[in-house]
Order: sequence, then structure tokens, then C-alpha cells
Amino acid sequence: MQTKVWDVCNYVDDLSTYPHINDIIQQFHAGHMIAIPTETVYGLAVDATNEEAVKQVFQAKGRPSDNPLIVHIYSKDQLDFVSPIEERVNRLMDAFWPGPISFILPLAPNTIAKTVTAGKETIAVRMPSDSVAREILKLTKLLLAAPSANTSGRPSPTTYEHVAEDLSGKIHGIVASNHSVVGVESTVLDCTSYPFKIARPGAITETMLQEVVPGCITQGVFDNDNPIAPGMKYRHYAPNSPITVIENGFQTEIIVDDSTAVVAPKSEVHLVKGGKFYELCHDKSDIKTAMKRLYYILRAIDQDKTITNIIFSGFIRNDATAAFMNRLDKASGEK
Ligand code: TXA
Ligand code: MG
Repeated sequence: MQTKVWDVCNYVDDLSTYPHINDIIQQFHAGHMIAIPTETVYGLAVDATNEEAVKQVFQAKGRPSDNPLIVHIYSKDQLDFVSPIEERVNRLMDAFWPGPISFILPLAPNTIAKTVTAGKETIAVRMPSDSVAREILKLTKLLLAAPSANTSGRPSPTTYEHVAEDLSGKIHGIVASNHSVVGVESTVLDCTSYPFKIARPGAITETMLQEVVPGCITQGVFDNDNPIAPGMKYRHYAPNSPITVIENGFQTEIIVDDSTAVVAPKSEVHLVKGGKFYELCHDKSDIKTAMKRLYYILRAIDQDKTITNIIFSGFIRNDATAAFMNRLDKASGEK
């Protein structure tokens, strides 16, 4: 299949003025798989009510069939496919949507293609804030099911080039926009039982959630064989070379040879002797840049065939660094 690319970088503020916008919108109604930018990572989007289209997405990604997809919406008015929203969930939606958080809610019967939820009676929903994603959702008037637009097991894509690297020839098109600003996947909050559980950490942290609904949030279990979010059990985000994480960052000199990639904030570069340096962010207060650059750097290192080893400077584990360290744990196999 030929993968069409629509470069919308000059139209991000008003996608409706893009000359080929109708061509893009029509693709979704035809049941095609189109990668779109979101603020977290690029997603591979299809009409969530089209069973055949949804099946193709699992195929293109090589995704295990027991791993359900997130449905993306433009407006809360579209939420008639979930059971009535309780007041606390409503408050969280109003506080963080549009934005990088998905809510798992009880599914109303016969609304969404069965493949989307992998047979579950619950569904994950997100309202992305990226302006291009929002305009596409608004103009299609569809519910769009969209997993991250990577091959299963590879780092999620934060640029359209990453999408092309994995899925060119396997999907119908790519809406090419800017680098995703958040850089790691959305927080997934399970609201099907009480207290609500964080099933996947993301940019919306436990502290931020507790501020809106005090005492209503707990951490889910991330790393057992039966997590709330099935996606958490797979060895995700894994680069080709093994990663070693130095907990709490570099304290002493790191002496390595040329086949080693060293990933750390600029403020630690003076401790690194040898190897190939990849700048993660400015310093350890700059977790936002670290999240934004994480997958980008992992993919860049994968492309460099001279690298056989990766050393990462870890952050001190706390609420703000939970999402970053979770992805790094996955990529390193917790080494
Ligand atoms: O930021 C994001 O969430 C991105 C962008 C594209 O929106 N999407 C994304 O989708 O990361 P995906 O498919 O790569 O990850 C979805 C995660 C998986 O871990 C999946 O198991 C979990 O959400 N999930 C989806 N529906 C669920 C459900 N009904 N119950 C439990 N977990 C669910
Ligand atoms: Mg994914």
C-alpha cells in the first residue's frame, strides 16, 4: 500500500484552511488508517465504529489482540457510548481535557466496534489538545480509535518521521505536523472502580489529580502480569541496545568507550568521559524536556549502528518524574 503524506506544518493553527483538508477527512469515512499528531505521541487513527478498519490497525502495528484501543473525542457531547458520567469524573474531565489523560469508563452496549475494547466492557476515552488532532476530530465528526502509531514493541512516535519509519507501506496516510509537545503517552486513569487507579502514569500526575478530587486517586499496579491496562505488560519502548539506568543521576565520572551512548542532562556532561553524548534536557529540574525527548533519543540511538550499549542518567523518583521513569524502566527491563 502507498502511504500518502500530508504536510500540514504551516497550517497547525487552522487546519481548516489546508488545501487538502477534505482529502484527509474523507479518508476516515472510507475506513482508512491515518496517522495523526497528538500532544502526547502520534496516533494511528480509524473510525471506531468500523470493525474492519479497527482490525487493520491491529494488523499494521502487529498489536496483540487482547490490548484495547483508546477512543478519541472532540467534545463531551459525544460521550453517549459510555454509561452516565459520575460527578467526580466529570470534574476531572473539565480540569484536564482537552489534554494528556485517558479515562477508563464502563461501555454502553452496542456502540463501538468490539475489536476496539478487545472484548472488555470498559473503554478508554481521551480528548486530545493538539490543534491538528482537534480539527480532524471536529471535521470528521467521528469517534477515532487511535493507538500510538508505532510498530508494537518500538518506542512511540513523537515525529511523523518516526511513524514513517515503522509504518510506511502499511497504512493509508500520515498527517505530518510538528514534534509532539508532551512526548510520552497519556495518563490512563481507571474510573470503573473506586478509588480511581492510575493504570499508566503520564504528564497528568497523581498530585494534579488529587488536587481536583482529594482522596479519590491511588496508584494501579504497573508491573505485574495482570495490569489494569493490558498494554503495560508488554515489553514496550525497547531499543535494540541494552540500557543501564544510573538511579538518581550521575554522581561520579562515567568512563566508557565509543560504542556506548550516554544520555543525560547537559548539566552532567562534565562527568562523562568517552562515548557518544545525547542531551536529554538542560538539568534535572527540566523533566518536561526529558519526557519530550525520550523516545526521540531512543530512536536516534537505534539508528546509530556503532552503538551497542546505552547508559541513562535517571531522575530521582517522585510524582513529577513517574511517567518518565516508568518508560525508562520498560525500555531498560529495569536494569
Ligand atoms: O497518549 C496516548 O494515549 C496515545 C495517543 C495516540 O492518544 N495513545 C496510546 O494508545 O498510547 P496505546 O494503544 O498505545 O495505549 C493505550 C493503553 C494501553 O496500555 C491499553 O492496554 C490501555 O491504554 N487501555 C485501553 N483501553 C483500555 C481498557 N478498556 N481497559 C484497560 N486499559 C485500556
Ligand atoms: Mg502504544
